Amino acid sequence: EKGTYPHFMLKEIEEQPFVMRNIITKYKDEHDNIKLDENVRNAVTAADRIYIIAAGTSYHSGLVGKELIEKIANIPVETHIASEFLYNMPLLSKKPLFIFISQSGETADLRGVLVNAKNMGHPSLTITNVPGSTLSRESDYTLHTYAGPEIAVASTKAYTAQMAVMAILAVDAARAGGVTIEFDPLQELAIVANAMEIFTNQKEEMEEVARNYLSVSRNCFFIGRSMDYHVCLEGALKLKEISYIQAEGFAGGELKHGTIALIEEGTPVIGLATQKGVSLNIRGNMKEVVARGANPCFISMEGCEHEEDKIVMPKVHEYLTPLVSVIPMQLISYYAALHRGCDVDKPRNLAKSVTVE
Ligand code: M6R
Repeated sequence: EKGTYPHFMLKEIEEQPFVMRNIITKYKDEHDNIKLDENVRNAVTAADRIYIIAAGTSYHSGLVGKELIEKIANIPVETHIASEFLYNMPLLSKKPLFIFISQSGETADLRGVLVNAKNMGHPSLTITNVPGSTLSRESDYTLHTYAGPEIAVASTKAYTAQMAVMAILAVDAARAGGVTIEFDPLQELAIVANAMEIFTNQKEEMEEVARNYLSVSRNCFFIGRSMDYHVCLEGALKLKEISYIQAEGFAGGELKHGTIALIEEGTPVIGLATQKGVSLNIRGNMKEVVARGANPCFISMEGCEHEEDKIVMPKVHEYLTPLVSVIPMQLISYYAALHRGCDVDKPRNLAKSVTVE
């Protein structure tokens, strides 16, 4: 039930700090260490390469998951769109592990890949919000995202929950594989939860950004680099899915290889700058679009913020920035859709779970 909330989407956006705290509780043992099924740990550490298979928003969390597992656990990872992988499988490594990420656990494209992986005798792990779901039942192992029911078609809390669980999985695998790692995901996720709350309490500001930038726009670009780029893909999907504004996420450095031709006077460009290593590069990319008339809106993080930034998020660990930087994007999309009179929870042409290929 959505209670006093006007839409499930707003309720689910607001629930994200609680979901983080719930995940921390569920994945913590009595000594404050990570609690994770030993069989899952063994499957991950036995793999010479991980293939993450997902669709839509879950694919976007899989892109972040790849970064986390590679950087933290030192295991090579490829993230694939399920419907592509199904008919155009890449050359597999000798000991692959398949990880299926799915809020519903019912997405047909993923199931097709799972059936093939099983036929080839490869191990599989499903990260899902619905443990009794088809993918969960049919794969060897399951990790639960504990986000609670997600009703709005636009996925919000499932996305951040998936990334939180993958951060925990990555650290667990790293430690099991003998990699020394300072990063404590349970502690850092608590900081993330507080940072999320700051944004969910800033709804008026987000509504104003939506009004100023998106009430009459035909299109919108989201630009970022490295981890921020993955979040831009998700921000753009959220906006197009519920507001019907044509939105695209781009890697900042790639703009000048074609897309910059689309920039006109007033085109909104939302830039994400939370990654210290590329923060100046993305600001340079923004200058390039501003010189062509773009209307810039930067979302940055304390520590690498500039005076002109519209939204500055509290500092969180650099591995976990996507979990917080996506919140303003979710809220801006929500208000943009609302201002345009769209059916926020049930956008046209879409179903919550896509059980046909
Ligand atoms: O249930 P799943 O996570 O497998 O669903 C995958 C996509 O259909 C889903 O994320 C879709 O892209 C959302 N509507 C995005 O908000």
